Amino acid sequence: MCRKTCRHWDPTLPVIYVITPTYARPVQKAELTRLSHTLMLVTNLHWIVVEDAVRKSSLVESLLMRTALNYTHLNAPTPDIHKRKASVRGVEQRNTAIKWLRNNKNSEVDNGVVYFADDDNSYTLEVFEEMRKTIEVSVWPVGLVGGLMVEKPLLNTTTGRVIGWNSAWRPDRPFPIDMAGFAVNLGHLLRHPKVEFLFNISGGFQESVFLQQLTTTERLEPKADNCTKVLVWHTRTESPKLTEENKLRKLGKQSDKGMEI
Ligand code: UGA
Ligand code: MN
Repeated sequence: MCRKTCRHWDPTLPVIYVITPTYARPVQKAELTRLSHTLMLVTNLHWIVVEDAVRKSSLVESLLMRTALNYTHLNAPTPDIHKRKASVRGVEQRNTAIKWLRNNKNSEVDNGVVYFADDDNSYTLEVFEEMRKTIEVSVWPVGLVGGLMVEKPLLNTTTGRVIGWNSAWRPDRPFPIDMAGFAVNLGHLLRHPKVEFLFNISGGFQESVFLQQLTTTERLEPKADNCTKVLVWHTRTESPKLTEENKLRKLGKQSDKGMEI
């Protein structure tokens, strides 16, 4: 179940399966290092890292080996026909991880929750404890997304159920929520064998189309103190300017010769 080196493992608690698509770029190692250091502090966490690549890279492989995490390392390149569309980022990779769960986990015996954690967001430790006891689908606010400081579910204060959203960008979305703002019970996902992410979906509707297959607004389980707290931020990393590096590279004098950055 867990590698010997796993520091935080409690067989009585549900396992959190964190699915992270990732792709090669100058900041990749920095992003994955930062994320891995958060995940290493979470009990019962299984990290499924899926590279958007034809082959697994030694950069990701050795980073995973250095963590004390229980992990599965996969790769799945985004098909060429979909490559240039923004709304397909992570689709093939998340589906590959879902397939792995369907093939390796059993809805009758495996107690867990599935969370899609992009490699560039910022996560608190609390968000993982909030999602751990998800029965079907849980939701919570996400900071710095959708053109707002926070995009969040709105609750009926008497019933404590979700009745709407505060979203300003495409509020017509059935579930106007970012990928970082929900988790799905593992058994619930496995009991819906056809559910996956789809290509050919307009930008911002990826989460909605996925969630529509699994739940309804009324059934959602609000977390983070009735959706009053931000426990995850949709941060995006600026691409570094490498103008000098590119000049050096042409001369065969790149600064990272023999080094993994
Ligand atoms: C937003 C959402 O937060 C994402 O969950 C959603 O996938 C994305 O929009 C979209 O559908 O366009 P955003 O910050 O724009 O996120 O996307 P990225 O963080 O650039 O990419 C999402 C994930 O896919 C990341 O983990 C990234 O490493 C990965 N990715 C990105 C790839 O695997 N391949 C790529 O070519 C680009
Ligand atoms: Mn992102």
